[in-house]
Amino acid sequence: MPIVPVALGARSYDILIEDGALDRAAMHLARFARGGRLAVVTDEQVAQAQLPRLTASLESAGIAVQTIILPPGERTKSWGQLEALIDRLLMLEIERGDHIIALGGGVIGDLVGFAAAILKRGCGFVQVPTTLLAQVDSSVGGKTAINTGAGKNLVGAFHQPGFVLIDPTTLDTLPPREVRAGYAEVVKYGLIDDAEFFAWCEGQGEYLLSGDPQARLHAIEKSVRAKAAIVADDERETSGRRALLNLGHTFGHALEADTGFSDRLLHGEGVAAGMALAFRYSARLNLCSAADAERVTAHLKAVGLPYDLASADVTGNGRTLVAHMLHDKKMAGGTLPFLLAHAIGKTFLSKDVLLDDVAAFLDQDRQ
Ligand code: NAD
Ligand code: GLY
Repeated sequence: MPIVPVALGARSYDILIEDGALDRAAMHLARFARGGRLAVVTDEQVAQAQLPRLTASLESAGIAVQTIILPPGERTKSWGQLEALIDRLLMLEIERGDHIIALGGGVIGDLVGFAAAILKRGCGFVQVPTTLLAQVDSSVGGKTAINTGAGKNLVGAFHQPGFVLIDPTTLDTLPPREVRAGYAEVVKYGLIDDAEFFAWCEGQGEYLLSGDPQARLHAIEKSVRAKAAIVADDERETSGRRALLNLGHTFGHALEADTGFSDRLLHGEGVAAGMALAFRYSARLNLCSAADAERVTAHLKAVGLPYDLASADVTGNGRTLVAHMLHDKKMAGGTLPFLLAHAIGKTFLSKDVLLDDVAAFLDQDRQ
């Protein structure tokens, strides 16, 4: 049973990755049940698909489960849902020493994590991620947030969970499109600094996507280890290392904005096309070889992920897309840091990208 530690001094915690762990949740979560009870927050779809496994295990161990079920979807990461959640947690008399269980994808994890960060000036929480994206990325590292009218993830806190329980079998009920979108974040770790893992993705990614347990476990563990190492090194994204996790996100954010942050383009799909664009733009600048950029594009295309503006269903032109990028929260001192690559597995942060040139590239890339 792989246990991946996240080494953060007093805020250190473990990530357990095990098929069937949800059915044995009591074994791992009993220590968080103060007074013999646990509050579990989830969404309606996860409540149907996975919550019964968790409650069966906890109740069979004599732990009372207090469930809060929220609507599914990105819109739940809002001021309104945060306020309602906090009110309900207060009614349950959650104390600072308590842990709230977040069962769901990145939406539930981000919202519950933020609620935990501000409730009673900070109480504990445990991530039980049920999407591939959440298992390989959002449940680890303590970034929590809600969205506002001004943009995504603009209000939040760094607040580390006390434990992360990953059961890859929860992905059996996740719609294939959501699995594929999460897979983009897996590929991302290879592209950032692990060319060997990218080659593994090229050979084995399709097995992971079709639910092969070995491939799934391998990819999740590899991703989580990569993320845990980066977070331990640069918890608050100050040294630049954690920023590498945003590979594909600046382009991706613009594509998501162009498609209205809607089901037309899921976050992971935007990241996929964004990574392909980042590599092709790096090739245009002669920073990386055209062959590497082509390999990235070919793999994303082969697994059915978007890899350019057309496949991402994006209609905006270069100028419009760059305007979306300028609204991105990653703007620093009037410049927009861009993640580019010298090669597969050699991503770096560039601070001198010319936005007019990016706009021209996007228009040319579309042709
Ligand atoms: P999500 O939480 O909306 O889940 C996607 C859909 O799948 C939802 O409809 C949900 O109800 C359903 N679902 C989840 N698990 C299921 C299961 N096992 N079976 C059936 N249905 C299931 O989306 P997501 O892709 O997991 O997360 C996206 C969010 O994550 C975004 O808000 C993004 O900003 C955030 N994010 C955060 C970080 C971070 O570091 N905190 C990193 C990346 C993304
Ligand atoms: N997903 C980006 C980060 O955790 O920093």
